[in-house]
Amino acid sequence: MRKLWGGRFEGATDELIERLNNSISFDSRMWRQDIHGSIAHADMLGDTGIVSREEADTLISGLKSLESDIDAGTLLLPMDAEDVHTAVEGLLRERLGAVAGKLHTARSRNDQVATDVRLYLRDAIDGIAPELKALQAALLKLAEGEFDTILPGCTHLQHAQPVVLAHHLLAYFWMLDRDRERLADLRHRVNRSPLGAGALAGTGFPINRKQTAAALGFEQVLENSLDAVADRDFAVEFMAFASILAMHISRLAEEIILWNTPEFRFVTLDDAVTTGSSIMPQKKNPDVAELARGKTGRVFGGLTALLTLMKGLPLAYNKDMQEDKEPLFDAIDTLGLLLPAMKKTIETASFNRARMLQSLRGDFSTATDLADHLVRVGYTFRDAHDIVGQIVRTCIEQGIGLEDLTPESLAACEPRLAASAAEAVKALTVESSVASRTSQGGTAPTAVRAQWLLAQDRLNA
Ligand code: ARG
Repeated sequence: MRKLWGGRFEGATDELIERLNNSISFDSRMWRQDIHGSIAHADMLGDTGIVSREEADTLISGLKSLESDIDAGTLLLPMDAEDVHTAVEGLLRERLGAVAGKLHTARSRNDQVATDVRLYLRDAIDGIAPELKALQAALLKLAEGEFDTILPGCTHLQHAQPVVLAHHLLAYFWMLDRDRERLADLRHRVNRSPLGAGALAGTGFPINRKQTAAALGFEQVLENSLDAVADRDFAVEFMAFASILAMHISRLAEEIILWNTPEFRFVTLDDAVTTGSSIMPQKKNPDVAELARGKTGRVFGGLTALLTLMKGLPLAYNKDMQEDKEPLFDAIDTLGLLLPAMKKTIETASFNRARMLQSLRGDFSTATDLADHLVRVGYTFRDAHDIVGQIVRTCIEQGIGLEDLTPESLAACEPRLAASAAEAVKALTVESSVASRTSQGGTAPTAVRAQWLLAQDRLNA
């Protein structure tokens, strides 16, 4: 396909250099955004009299026919073109002849590519947001049945205090909620129009940037033409969003992988989200969760790639910036797979509640409750901590758990407890431990129900 810039060259581009230079293999996916940008531009050219109304209408109907033919599969993009902009303009020239050459008046590929990427990313964001919300909804639904399921809450991956499963699942809901908030926020900065910045300095033609911005659904026009063609902050921001989200998904995935081990046996995964081994007939591996954890690397890598790409660039457009697309597209594709895959994993997971409860036996995870009891009967927390530490040691020596203590054996351990031993023993059950933590955001089933309702409101807002 003919280049958009052959005039001042005598020789042909080296074939190897062409392969290095061309971006059609990855930017072809922006063909629709490229056509939409061109339609808005052509219409504005007609309205401002830069081209005649008739010419503008010819350009617009030509562009629309390209869109419907590409959609129908009856027209293919020429993959030997330099980039998507060259390809679309070339197709238009084949269809309309010389008038197609008027489309690029008062425009450069520099503002055009920035426009296309912003439009493409905006569409991608609008696809990702509902997938993210659907994953949150799956967590919320799962949590609804688990207000009374108790499992060990961990710090340092050591049993710390008992928590209810709904509480644990909702923690992920809120992580994803911040991601959704971030996405909605950055969308405003993606959704600004560089179109009309020209190559870098603006144009002498009487263009109307507000018109093209409005036609394309942009919220505002970028104020500075140099910045408009040189800025990729919006892509970096998206990659930062994607990285944080991938990190959250990876943490959830890791927890699923761990809980699915024979040592934990907290969760059983559906056949639909697991795979087998070619040699070990018994295997059922949590591949979806593992890939979710593994794919985090390429998303983080993409963020680093974009930051590194931009950090040394002088104003305005530099060809380096062609390298912005592959990491961005890869992150979009990765999230497009991971979000529904994790949703399926979550939706089809079944919890082993008895096993969760059983794992709390003998784990001393209600030691803090005993210390809190001592505080209530008059000890300072430091003394209480000390006394309970000694009780735990005695239990370990005797090979029993806190739940095995009777009022008598507790009083024998610590004579000062004699008066309230019966009450203290009651505080040692995991049920009363979780029920007692009624502080806002705490693990008491009543508090978790209140939190669940807040989460539901948040999702429906
Ligand atoms: N393929 C290019 C890119 O992705 C389009 C812009 C080219 N501009 C130029 N002046 N060569 O950045």
